[in-house]
Parts: sequence; C-alpha cells; structure tokens
Amino acid sequence: MCRMNVKALKQQAGEFAATFVESGMLVGLGSGSTAIFATRRIAQRIHSGDLRDIRAVPTSLATEAAASELGIPLTDLTGATRIDITIDGADEVDPAFNLIKGGGGAHLREKIVAQATERLVIVVDDSKLVEQLGTSWAVPVEVIPFGWESQAAYLQFIGARPALRLDGESPFKTDQGNHILDAAFGPIADPAALDATLSARAGIVEHGLFINMTRDVVVASSDGLQHLPR
Ligand code: 5RP
Repeated sequence: MCRMNVKALKQQAGEFAATFVESGMLVGLGSGSTAIFATRRIAQRIHSGDLRDIRAVPTSLATEAAASELGIPLTDLTGATRIDITIDGADEVDPAFNLIKGGGGAHLREKIVAQATERLVIVVDDSKLVEQLGTSWAVPVEVIPFGWESQAAYLQFIGARPALRLDGESPFKTDQGNHILDAAFGPIADPAALDATLSARAGIVEHGLFINMTRDVVVASSDGLQHLPR
C-alpha cells in the first residue's frame, strides 16, 4: 500500500478534529503544521454559518496572525476561566497520551492554554506515536537568556544532551524572547518525574512534557483516521 504524504495526513487529522467544535465555544487554537488545518476548517465553518458565537485563544504569535487573517474572533485569557476545547499538534504521543511538544517553540503558551482547557484534542500523523517519550525527540526546554549555560549544564547533569536551538547563526527566540535548549534524554522511563524535576529549576520557564493533559488523540495514517478518546 502506498503511504499518503504526511501533509495530507496532517490535514485529515486537523480537519476531523475541527468537527468537535460547537457554537458558543471558547476554542484554543494550537500551533504548527497540523493544528493549522483545524484552524482553517474552524474559520470555514464560521464563515459558512455552521458555527456561531465562537471566540478563540491562539497559542502563539504565528497562530494569532493566521487566525486573525482567517477572520476568527480572537480573545486572550483575560476573564476566561475555562476554554471548552483546544486542538493542537504534538511531536510525540505515548500510549497514556502524554506528549512531547515544542517543536515550534510555542510550548509555554500551548501549556498555559492546555491547562485552562476542558478538552485537549491532539492531532497527529501516525509517525508521532511512540512507546516511550524521548525515543525520537528531544524535550524542548525554554530558558531565560540570563544564565542559560547553567541550565544547559544542569540538563547534562540529569542525563540529557542539550543543544541550544538556533535560528540561522543566532539563538532561536520564543514569543517571550527566551532561548530553547533541546534536551535529548533518550527514552524517558518516568516522564512525570522528569516533568517535576524540570519544573523545579529556576531559569527554566517551561518544558515540552505535557503529562496527563490530553483527552482525545486523532491519528491519521495511510490506513485511515483513528479517534482515540480517553
Ligand atoms: C509547537 C508544537 C507543535 O504542535 C508540534 O511541534 C507539532 O508540530 P507539527 O504539527 O508541525 O508537526 O508543539 O510548539
């Protein structure tokens, strides 16, 4: 059987998840090349009249720009206690629906939105499914520029190979103006313990492990779409 191209798989997953959105919802818009298909489909549904009274919270400046161009009414988290649904991508998904995110460097805002969300739907192609997190991706760790080398040394001390993410010759800058250290741990035996360890370190603003946050995963593969609710 010929494998569909990855972009087509991402499109299927993103557009399918957009059908979960209902009129009146406050919607979190994820970041990346899969979530954008959900954002575009939500915009189409708004403009066709199929969805009414939608407000959306973007998870990155790039998503904000795209959603605003698509005419989606945007808001931030001011005054909003609960986001009904967020559709976002991931870099790795394990069998317990724990995630590595942050391939695009947006994981801080993505996690703030995910934590405020009732139903976090993750959209991926099947190459993102792993038995253990860390198998093929490093954990993106957002660090403030002050003293970032000491965070790199700390990550090395706890067993990672950290690499400063670059944008050309310069350090990559997040939407918050911070750096990212991509920390390759290899397969992570206890993601929740690593989450706690990284969260306890001053200078680490946020990391890309999303533990126990996901309600549904939509996986697109050459064999079709799978919707895995928890
Ligand atoms: C950005 C993210 C993305 O959701 C993740 O990297 C997946 O991206 P893509 O859908 O382009 O493969 O976490 O920070």
